[in-house]
Amino acid sequence: MNKGLTMSYINASIEDHCLTITISRADKKNALTRDMYQQMAHAILGVKNDGSTKVIVIKGDGDCFTAGNDISDFAQQTDNASVPETSAFMRALAATELPVIAQVHGMAVGIGTTLLLHCDFVYATPDTRFVLPFINLGLVPEYASSYLLPKIAGHIKAAEWLMLGEPFSAQDAYQFGMLSKIIEAADIDSVVKNTVKKLVGKPAFSLRQTKALLKGENDKINQQMSDEFDIFLEALGSPAAKEAFDAFLNKRPINPEKFK
Ligand code: COA
Repeated sequence: MNKGLTMSYINASIEDHCLTITISRADKKNALTRDMYQQMAHAILGVKNDGSTKVIVIKGDGDCFTAGNDISDFAQQTDNASVPETSAFMRALAATELPVIAQVHGMAVGIGTTLLLHCDFVYATPDTRFVLPFINLGLVPEYASSYLLPKIAGHIKAAEWLMLGEPFSAQDAYQFGMLSKIIEAADIDSVVKNTVKKLVGKPAFSLRQTKALLKGENDKINQQMSDEFDIFLEALGSPAAKEAFDAFLNKRPINPEKFK
């Protein structure tokens, strides 16, 4: 049974005990605005105690998963640095007791890759490109990625991905432990549905407690998020970040003199 849709660029629907959140702003590569984060947070928190939903799926419409945070939003935030909607979403995702499946294709940029580190199953098509471009925007890692990524992929790979900020392939992501599996685009819907069906068939108590036991480090993750956040907000207002945002929005190269 479909229990309804939320408006605008996020579609959230519940069917057969599964909440599916679809990012649906294809003309902007599914770039995430504050309103979209708020809606996703609302959707995740809304099923917290409904006694029925057992799994969450996150995916994107169009030709990519998401191009990450909307850079216009970033640019506007520099003078009044505060991102409560983004925090609400990421903290809801990190804290949910339900298993989360990410279905990824095309590009997963910035928070689009960061959020995967908080999921339990990550399926990606072979063409997917991942990138953590914070350094190239004058920013720093966020939402515990500076803790989770080295833990998952090792320091050397995490340093490469976070200090160079260059795209990496699905094969690399799989090799270094970020993906459950690489799945051909034609099959990914049915693979995700099949995993949903298997999870929904598990006893609710065991499912939640298994996740809780696997994720026994919430204090450390929350602390890392807070530590990163202070530095992230400082970086958001830096001259380097302002130059990077302006360059992107005006479709021009970054001026190296202003990016130091
Ligand atoms: N914020 C705001 N708008 C974005 C965006 C973002 N993160 N990503 C893409 N868009 C917009 C583009 O400005 C463009 O808008 P326009 O049609 O009005 O000009 C539209 O989405 C299509 O993007 P485009 O760059 O033309 O697509 P592409 O296929 O050539 O490149 C990307 C796709 C994802 C590689 C590229 O858009 C990109 O690098 N985006 C920025 C990613 C980023 O740095 N995100 C922040 C992470 S912290």
